[in-house]
Amino acid sequence: MKIYDPIEIQTRLPALERRPRRLRQSAALRAMVRETDLNPKDFVYPLFVRQGQGVRREIRSMPGVYQWPVDLLVGEVETIAKLGIPAVILFGIPEHKDPIGLENFAPDGIVQRAIRAIKQTTPEMVVITDVCLCEYTDHGHCGVLNTGPDRDPHLPEGYVLNDATLEILGRVAVSHAEAGADIVAPSGMIDGMVAAIRAALDGAGFQNTLILSYAVKYASGFYGPFRDAAESPPKFGDRKSHQMDPANAREALKEVTLDVEQGADLVMVKPALPYLDVIYRVRQAYPELPLAAYNVSGEYAMLKAAAANGWLDERTTVLEALTAIKRAGADLILTYHAKQAAAWLA
Ligand code: PBG
Repeated sequence: MKIYDPIEIQTRLPALERRPRRLRQSAALRAMVRETDLNPKDFVYPLFVRQGQGVRREIRSMPGVYQWPVDLLVGEVETIAKLGIPAVILFGIPEHKDPIGLENFAPDGIVQRAIRAIKQTTPEMVVITDVCLCEYTDHGHCGVLNTGPDRDPHLPEGYVLNDATLEILGRVAVSHAEAGADIVAPSGMIDGMVAAIRAALDGAGFQNTLILSYAVKYASGFYGPFRDAAESPPKFGDRKSHQMDPANAREALKEVTLDVEQGADLVMVKPALPYLDVIYRVRQAYPELPLAAYNVSGEYAMLKAAAANGWLDERTTVLEALTAIKRAGADLILTYHAKQAAAWLA
């Protein structure tokens, strides 16, 4: 034997005596050592509701996602329940829009009607409602705007007013709770929104209505298709005066801290895939906190488009993406893939 036989030397190296591939030999072994399990109970399915009956409308930029009339919605929710998905989040498309969004807190508003219908047919389904102004306002912004004769001269024209918006958010949350919502989810990144909603709910006797705060919501281009789905693009400007700068991660911890102090029961990071580091940081800082991540419309559209073109395998990439979100630290995933993923996991 040669003294410097490279094969002989390699097999003697202790590093090579450790063979991680042993654990990957078979599907059974891989399953035994898998660290992250994806389960339909981790999913929340977003649903868009609109007036009308008998026809659902597919959203152009989100194949397989529809705007539902209430009469068809209830059957869809039963299907979702049968797939083992425990919760839905509702977004309403109102009949009329106005500067403050009156239908948002109308007792017979579209979301209020949808909640009651779901609770009648599928009472065990956890109903979450998005609490924001943008779908309901004629200007498409997430709050009351600084405009008109009473405008504050110290703030820019068209600025989203913080405290005037809080009052409306409180009314919307109470109105959803009255209709039977289990969880309200304020999504506007308005300062103090969790405290205002908690106070309004408690004041109306809804101590047990939970708050899922969109605590860390970035001003993201990945919401593009949602604005088609909810018919809610801002008519001018953008949302950068309230949603977070995508460049910031430390600031996410400040936002979570504030919302937890104000009484948020669960918090969310949004979007999910471009922000896995943020999900991870929040999880490390708050090991005990129920954490959700929103796999948003643009993330969905990307995989659907690539799959439709035959560029990616949909099943593999969707399950991989959702597993990654959970691995990063999310307990719950709001995702338009939920139905399909639950069916694959069954
Ligand atoms: C605001 C809201 C938005 C989304 C959820 N709630 C849009 C926005 O902030 O512009 C986006 C969800 C998605 O893209 O899937 N009510």
